[in-house]
Amino acid sequence: MRTQPGRTQVGIVGAGPAGLLLSHLLALRGIESVVVEIRSRAYCEARQRAGVLEDGSVRLLREAGLASRLDREGLEHGGIYLQFAGERHHIDFRKLTGGRTVTVYAQTEIVKDLINERLARGGEIAFEVTDTEVDRLDSERPVLCYTIPDGIRHEVVCDAIAGCDGFHGVCRQRIPAGLLRITERDYPYAWLGILADVPPSTDELIYAHHPNGFALHSLRSPTTSRLYLQVEPDESIENWPDQRIWDELGRRLELPGSGWTLKQGPVFDKSVTPMRSFVSAPMRYGRLFLAGDAAHIVPPTGAKGLNLAISDVAVLAPALDALLRGEPGVADAYSDNCLRRVWRSTHFSWWMTTMLHRTPGADDMEAQLQLAQLRYLIQSTAAATSLAENYTGLRS
Ligand code: FAD
Ligand code: PHB
Repeated sequence: MRTQPGRTQVGIVGAGPAGLLLSHLLALRGIESVVVEIRSRAYCEARQRAGVLEDGSVRLLREAGLASRLDREGLEHGGIYLQFAGERHHIDFRKLTGGRTVTVYAQTEIVKDLINERLARGGEIAFEVTDTEVDRLDSERPVLCYTIPDGIRHEVVCDAIAGCDGFHGVCRQRIPAGLLRITERDYPYAWLGILADVPPSTDELIYAHHPNGFALHSLRSPTTSRLYLQVEPDESIENWPDQRIWDELGRRLELPGSGWTLKQGPVFDKSVTPMRSFVSAPMRYGRLFLAGDAAHIVPPTGAKGLNLAISDVAVLAPALDALLRGEPGVADAYSDNCLRRVWRSTHFSWWMTTMLHRTPGADDMEAQLQLAQLRYLIQSTAAATSLAENYTGLRS
């Protein structure tokens, strides 16, 4: 096999939102990077995931010059609906937080915008690589190795490496186990998510607590809906033909006597996602820095994962800039700075998840405690404000 040596300032593993945005933020600071990705460009651009951006994430994308399509096509939302015990209540973020909102803009579109921007500015992204390895992490010249589809092995000497390769990536595994503190919890349910070719039946997201389990009505555009159902953790998608999904969504989202109905349409994407909380600390080992899902996972109920990936790399870009100029202080503080926000979001996501889902085998006490918490949220401005400020994103 032919090996080609190379040199860059920052080697980035993973072309998800974290890796691509980091590459862009570094380029704005005049720092060169190479991004490597195991999947194809088409796969990365089509992988269905997040949909909700905090106002801080939108601001950051705007300041980085990445928001022209987001500003045209993103849908600003000033609240959510919470539904339980056959009633639907609006939580008004604007009123509760002094004007803050969230924006519905799919992760697929952010990834497309970032790939276009990087390639238009001469950025290097190697798709469909195999055998990614990172090495010499405790030296000042770590190495990123990968094989491109024509079989040439690249060995790129870097000043730092960013592990943005998601939960199943290789970078976190390279940190000696004795140095890592892993804190994790698996939830006894999963989400079945669909994309459907039908206008949303709601103006804002509906989070529904129901005796059959949780349901969420989200959206992607004025003509496309995104919906989720709580299902068994090991549920097979084969057990859920489209009509069964619509019937169950209808049951969990309906409001008897209100005249509200769920519009149905052709389903064009279906998947089951496990629910997990996971934090791996510290987020740095030598010259390897982890960002996004490579270091932490939250259950999607709080809509935080993508926002955390964005806020990690917003901290990492200036930290690497300073490190490469010989000032290590900000990079030394990187992990602690990020983990404070990560733990806040981990708590919020756990709280939203356990309040809204039906826990298999739970007793009546647990069901009543969930309802008491939900009622408190719609009765107390203080409780609703806490939800609103966490959902729209706390300033760090
Ligand atoms: P990823 O997007 O996982 O990117 C990592 C990349 O690294 C991938 O492209 C992968 O192919 C690549 N890679 C892996 N291994 C290697 C290797 N060895 N070599 C090279 N490349 C490699 N978050 C929100 O904020 N709001 C939401 O509304 C929301 N909803 C969600 C709904 C669902 C159903 C799911 C599943 C997630 C949701 N999230 C949400 C979470 C969000 O999608 C993730 O947190 C986000 O994708 C993290 O970005 P990332 O770049 O860190 O990781
Ligand atoms: C989504 O639109 O995919 C979405 C929205 C809110 C969530 C999770 C996912 O809490």
